[in-house]
Amino acid sequence: MQISLGPYVITEATKDDIWEVIRINEETLPEHYTLQFYYDIYENFPEGFLIAKLNGKAVGYIMNRIERGISSFNLSFVKKGHVVSIAVLEEHRNKGIGTTLLTTAMERMRNRGCDEVFLEVRVTNYDAIRLYEKLGFVKVRTIQYYYSDGEDAYVMARKL
Ligand code: ACO
Ligand code: ZN
Repeated sequence: MQISLGPYVITEATKDDIWEVIRINEETLPEHYTLQFYYDIYENFPEGFLIAKLNGKAVGYIMNRIERGISSFNLSFVKKGHVVSIAVLEEHRNKGIGTTLLTTAMERMRNRGCDEVFLEVRVTNYDAIRLYEKLGFVKVRTIQYYYSDGEDAYVMARKL
């Protein structure tokens, strides 16, 4: 799989790309993870671990997990895609990379038999919330003090 978006190329990440994913994560988000965590995500859903590159250099990523649990919308037991983290380097934002990463990942979740997709986002992360709402996510609940600095999270979800 290779998606072209102007000069950008979006592909499945390889294990060797994980170092660049970590670099982008450290630059863009306060939530960091251990190397083992990245590998575990990769093993769980490799075709959902996507990277955006410009001239061979990573500028964005999305990583997701396939989970089973109670639906965000009713009391049924479902298979769901969990968007663990998405980020694009600041100088490459507003070019459609985030949208393409998320829509492609959702397509792969559907192919894996997921009924729905969900994520957590800081209640003040307006750019990200707008992107999710544009793609059909709705706020389903608030988790108080979700982040280590005390900020609340919205859980946002949509059916696939
Ligand atoms: N030209 C101009 N504008 C465009 C184009 C284009 N070709 N394509 C899309 N856009 C617009 C979109 O319509 C959207 O506008 P809107 O917000 O007014 O609706 C805006 O650009 C952003 O859309 P994208 O470009 O698709 O998204 P982007 O690549 O900027 O990535 C992201 C969005 C990932 C949220 C980015 O802002 C980011 O990395 N933020 C910091 C990290 C972060 O907060 N990540 C989310 C944390 S929550 C979690 O991970 C579950
Ligand atoms: Zn999460």
